[in-house]
Parts: sequence; structure tokens; C-alpha cells
Amino acid sequence: MVTNPDTSFISLGSLTPGTFLQQYWQKKPLLVRNAMPGFQGLLSHKELIQLAGNDDVQSRLVIQKDGQWLLKHGPLNSRDFPNSTENTWSFLVQDVNHWLPSANNLLLKFGFIPYARLDDLMVSYAPTGGGIGPHYDSYDVFLLQGFGRRRWEIAANYDNQLVPDAPVKILQHFNAEQSWILEPGDMLYLPPNYAHHGIAVDACMTYSIGFRAPSHQELIDQFLMYLQDHQETDGWYCDPDLKRQAHPWEIHRDMLQQTRQILKKIKWNAADVESFLGIYLTEPKAHVFFNQPKRPLSFDAFNSAIHKKNFRLSLKSRMLTGRRQIFLNGESYTVSPATKKVLSTLVCHQKNSFNDKLNDESRKILYQWYVSGFIKIASHT
Ligand code: SIN
Ligand code: CO
Repeated sequence: MVTNPDTSFISLGSLTPGTFLQQYWQKKPLLVRNAMPGFQGLLSHKELIQLAGNDDVQSRLVIQKDGQWLLKHGPLNSRDFPNSTENTWSFLVQDVNHWLPSANNLLLKFGFIPYARLDDLMVSYAPTGGGIGPHYDSYDVFLLQGFGRRRWEIAANYDNQLVPDAPVKILQHFNAEQSWILEPGDMLYLPPNYAHHGIAVDACMTYSIGFRAPSHQELIDQFLMYLQDHQETDGWYCDPDLKRQAHPWEIHRDMLQQTRQILKKIKWNAADVESFLGIYLTEPKAHVFFNQPKRPLSFDAFNSAIHKKNFRLSLKSRMLTGRRQIFLNGESYTVSPATKKVLSTLVCHQKNSFNDKLNDESRKILYQWYVSGFIKIASHT
């Protein structure tokens, strides 16, 4: 059993995680005042701009200028940001948890929701009056207020017509049903498809803990791709009883019949669904690159280092486990129960000293992960 290093989940006011899941999750919004007492954020506005300057960081700048919406994708630098107070704007950085250990620790506070549902931590900054306009998202989100204040207006019922030709999805006619001003440490949970509009009351930063829910189409498409790589069959189409056809251009029912029989050879079971899910859900996003060690230790040197040094999962790595499998970054490993136990101690991205005796299977897999940059040697402290 992997234990969460910080078992103190975020406060849900008077609700336990169980009651929250039963009464609110995917059902209705919840405002929690003081969910993180004293929280002012994890990084400054300048540090967020710096992060947005990296090529492999996904960021966007949304500007509202003379009634028009403009969108700039990152990498962004300080010259990209409007200085005129006539424009309202906001910029948003995805996957901040890939870069800051403190952001990863914040996500762990939402561990009452399975990691398989988690997407990322997005951080936004907006000067007074800024925001990205009224919109709805297809995923659940917790909006945790960092420094400054933001007014959130929300609506369950709305006209879903969008502003035409805008580069971002903005609702053309939005009427708030409820609104609150969130102060640092306050949090608003929104289920999918709730319209929301966040306006910075002061210059402020908002931390969005976002979840993922694939569309049925996406799941089916991806599963078919998985099956393509995991089906092997033999045999050839054959027709020793072929008869002359009156219309040779017609696809004959015998051919249809034989093809239907062949297609029945496509088989899958619960284990395939589990493997597919683990691989699919841990697949790194397209912009994610792992830094491999420049001069990797040899396998022998790694083996002796493993008991002396601490290791941790790269913040960019995604790990999940199945009944007999470990999934990491789109790969599956079918392992012994002992190996699964030891490797899954890495799942929370915390330092791990592997004091226990490691079996050969674990050593080989850990070395492979180390060379790929999926795990890192952490400092002693
Ligand atoms: C924001 O932080 O401004 C936007 C977050 C959201 O609407 O999901
Ligand atoms: Co939103």
C-alpha cells in the first residue's frame, strides 16, 4: 500500500472527502472558504512569467482589446504582456506541477480523487479586471485562490452560443446565477459544463486543479489503436469454392460472410482494458520531454548508488498501477507482487531511499527508468 506522504487533504469545509464525493463531485458547485488557511500561492507573478518563457511549457496569454479577444501561445516573454491599463488580460500556465515540487504536493492534497482522473495544476495571473471571459469546461476543476482576490460568477443554465470568431471559447450571453469574491486560500469546486467567469478584483493568481475525462470517442479511438498493436493472428482470405458472379463488380455476400468471420477473431478481455487504460492514462502529453542523465551511471554503479542515494519520480512522470502491472509514462510492466510493491512507492513523486533489499527485476526496471529520465537521483536531505 502506497501511503500519501501528506495525508492531510485539503479542507472541504465541514465535509469529509466521502460526503463531498457523494453530494458534490460531478453534481454541483461547492465554495470552501479558507480551504488552505494562509495560502498566498506557490510562485510569484514574475516566476510564472519566467516559467512561461520555456519552450516546453504550455502557456497562453488572453487579451481583451477594444472588445476583441486575442490569444497568444507561449513561450511568452515579458515583452508579450500588454502594459496599457486599457486592455484586460490574463495569462495561464499548464502543468505547473511538472516544474515545482510544491505544486506536486498541492495536487497530493486532492488525493481523495483517484490519480487516474487527475490532469494538472494550471496557474493563472490577471491584473485588476483581467480574466479569460465567461466560458465552460468539460472537466471538473477546483479553483484555489492564491494572492489577490477574484470574483467568480457561475451559472448552471446558460445559452451556449459562443462569441463568433474569437480564438478562445467565450459565451456570448452570460448571466450569473451566483457570485462570490474569493480571497487567498478560498476555493471553488465546479463540475463539468458549469459556466463560469472569473474577474480579478485585484491583481491576482488562481490555481486550477483540473481533472481529465476522455470523451467516449477518444476512448474508443485509443482502444482501437491499442488493439492494433496487441492483436496477432494468422490465416489468409481464401475462396476455393469461388463461383462466377453475374456482376463481378459487386461485393458478394460470401465475401462479406467470410470477412465477418475473420473480424470475429478480434478479441479482448478485462486485462486488455486495464493495460490499455494504464498505458493511455500515463502517456506523456505531446509537449513533455524527459531529461535523460547526460553521463548515466553504469548498471553496476547505479546498483551501488541505489542504496546510498535517494530517488524520486521525475515531476513529469505519470505512474498508475493495475492488478499486476505498473504503468509509467505510457509503458506497462507486468511484474511480481514484490516488485510492484517496491516500485509503486515512487508514485507520489517523493524521495525514496530503497533501504529494503531490491530484487533483480526491480533493479533492472529502475535502471531503465533512470536512463530514460523517468526517475531522478535526489539529494541526501
Ligand atoms: C483562470 O484561472 O482565469 C481560469 C480558470 C478556469 O476558468 O478554469
Ligand atoms: Co474554466
